[in-house]
Amino acid sequence: MNEKIISKGSKLDLTIESLAFGGRGVAKVNGFVVFVKNAIPGQTVRSLIYNKRKGFAEARPLEILSESENAVEAPCKHFSHCGGCTIQNLEYEEQLRQKQAQVEGIFQHQAGIEDFALEAVVPADETYHYRNKMEFSFSNRRWVLTDEPEGAAADFALGLHIPGRYDKILDISECHIQQPLGNEILNHVRSAAVEQELKPYDVKTHIGFLRHLVLRFGVNTGNVMVNIVTSYENTDLLNSMAESLSKAFPQITSIVNNVNTRKGDTAYGEKEILLYGVPSITEKLGDLTFEISANSFFQTNTKQAEKLYETALNGCGLTGKEIVYDLYCGTGSISLFLAKKTKEVHGFEWIVSAIEDAVRNAVNNGIGNAFFHKANLDRPLDGIKDLPKPDIIVLDPPRAGVGRKTLQYVSDSEARRIVYVSCNPSTQARDVVFLQENGFTLSQVTMVDMFPHTPHIETVAVLEKT
Ligand SMILES: C[S@@+](CC[C@H](N)C(=O)[O-])C[C@H]1O[C@@H](n2cnc3c(N)ncnc32)[C@H](O)[C@@H]1O
Repeated sequence: MNEKIISKGSKLDLTIESLAFGGRGVAKVNGFVVFVKNAIPGQTVRSLIYNKRKGFAEARPLEILSESENAVEAPCKHFSHCGGCTIQNLEYEEQLRQKQAQVEGIFQHQAGIEDFALEAVVPADETYHYRNKMEFSFSNRRWVLTDEPEGAAADFALGLHIPGRYDKILDISECHIQQPLGNEILNHVRSAAVEQELKPYDVKTHIGFLRHLVLRFGVNTGNVMVNIVTSYENTDLLNSMAESLSKAFPQITSIVNNVNTRKGDTAYGEKEILLYGVPSITEKLGDLTFEISANSFFQTNTKQAEKLYETALNGCGLTGKEIVYDLYCGTGSISLFLAKKTKEVHGFEWIVSAIEDAVRNAVNNGIGNAFFHKANLDRPLDGIKDLPKPDIIVLDPPRAGVGRKTLQYVSDSEARRIVYVSCNPSTQARDVVFLQENGFTLSQVTMVDMFPHTPHIETVAVLEKT
């Protein structure tokens, strides 16, 4: 087949060879790469090319001509429309092999990094019902499925965004990656809202009341929080729902109302009202207890977070004498995990409320050797002259990777070891190349599968001073 026949609008039969980072299937036509949405390795799919660029094309599948030997039945009835768990139809062991191959490809072939140990992926013991937080949206623009009868009501939905559509919500009645109780609460809230004729928010006109439903679970404590995000304050409209929820689900320990009057489509309110129970839930990680309020950051897979932090702890190789810096520390969970095994930990983070949570969590756990500092890590790390110098630096940046000035600080420091936790192996590999060029050597990369059935992967890289 000639690459020239690949043009926008052409239909091709493609065999999927692997899974690209981000989750699309990869097919090759005489070496020319075609990314095929919603296709898994081993399938042959008739595909429609919808975009062609220099060096690659993009396609969507029209028909599966032959199935992959690693295909499994996706248990979720929303699978073909919801963009959440795009590889649910690929057997779990193969998901892990594909994720391993992606990380290997990114580090070794794309970034050209050699001579390091790539450990096998740390798998999830529970591949469903693993999320401790789910964020659903209300909408008056329900996504109507093609097989629905004409004229089906579409003015109320509670569910998840259709991929690529900020305005359309797929009504969800069961999500297999959240806690089973979450599905019961989700459906109860939908029925109560419809019964009470509460108006969902319209993201285009900005009219309507109900915006989001956020559920949080203390997986190791049994605590449950229901957070109803509304566009304005009116607790009279919510009291009866809160009452029926607390009666129907005695497991619920907290019901809050976050009020977000801004146009931005976030589940984060500028005001929070307690409707029932206590304002936060607690969760345990190892022997640490965390207090989590509606807007606090917390790792969304509790069981795998424990494995991730264990991996980071092992990577640090602590003897009990080290000064550790935890850069991008969030609410300080890694810092607190390490504090018990070392002399002193300093966490750095730019969100003030996260720092406050970190300090409170340190106090609640009786940890006196973890200290937290507000810092914008896109800028030079000023104001640390009075702090003891780090022996070990832990990095856990957002997807964009470590800020260049912070990377420079890390490589100029006298730290002998860096433990770099990442949710994006591409930016991690880019930063590792920089650190390798500036006096460090990558010794080991370990992957932890935090999000089965999705293309995401978390990696922990250990670098030593050369
Ligand atoms: C992946 S989270 C890490 C959270 C934490 N290590 C944990 O496991 O809970 C990244 C953190 O970096 C923070 N962050 C992002 N950009 C930042 C910046 N420029 N300066 C400081 N912190 C930043 C975010 O607020 C977030 O808490």
